[in-house]
Amino acid sequence: MFEIATGLLTSTAIVLAVGSSLMLTSGTPCAAGAASAPTSCTVPRLVRRAAANAGAEKQAAPELIEAELVAAYDCVSPYMAEAYARSSHAAAAAYRSWTRFSRTAYPAEAHGVRFMNNYANDIGDDAYGKFEGGGTMPTGSVLAKDSFIVAPDGVISVAPLFVMEKRTAGYSAEARDWFYQMIMPDGAIRDDASIQRFCNNCHRRAGDRDDYLMFLPLPHRVSVKSSN
Ligand code: HEC
Repeated sequence: MFEIATGLLTSTAIVLAVGSSLMLTSGTPCAAGAASAPTSCTVPRLVRRAAANAGAEKQAAPELIEAELVAAYDCVSPYMAEAYARSSHAAAAAYRSWTRFSRTAYPAEAHGVRFMNNYANDIGDDAYGKFEGGGTMPTGSVLAKDSFIVAPDGVISVAPLFVMEKRTAGYSAEARDWFYQMIMPDGAIRDDASIQRFCNNCHRRAGDRDDYLMFLPLPHRVSVKSSN
């Protein structure tokens, strides 16, 4: 049983928890952990467990069953929409209408301990949907990963939206023309040179053949998009 919070979208709740201390530290990739905004969404099982053994085990990334992942994302989605919209970034407004490549939100530790979904826009979705066989993505492709955090006590917070945009050939040889952005829950956009280096230093490990893309673990993938 899951309680779906009835859209209590108080902006104060979202603003409150956006720490000013966004530090990207090596070792904790995209360690924007402080930059999350709590919601009234919870995972009831974890809330009950935390109440039952107060102060007991600290678990970094709670394991959620599929129904919990679905309910959590349903509940937190409107909070995400409101939070990311503060940026006025085009992808923030549009990405939920793009093709989604994750069956449910899935735990992705590479971007900090959080649950994420992968989306690609119309220009990029055919190639992205072929995953490792997709080759070099076309100019104008935009990939977006929204994210939320589930605390050990079951409380769900909005975390950043990660965006990769394929720019014109020649824009950046070292990043295969990818432009990286992080849209914080308070609407701030992080895309300076250090962010470019930080994101690309990890993504380039995926290699040229995969166009620096990491895709997502097999069990979480939706099947290849049928062409339009
Ligand atoms: C330590 C490695 C690492 C760093 C740093 C990193 N990523 Fe990723 N990224 C991944 C992995 C691994 C995936 C595949 C899905 C997953 O497990 O999270 C991924 C997937 C993505 C995707 C979906 C496209 C794809 O590759 O399939 C986007 C968009 C993305 N990351 C954006 C960013 C941005 C923006 C930054 C910097 C703010 C960043 N990433 C930093 C490892 C990293």
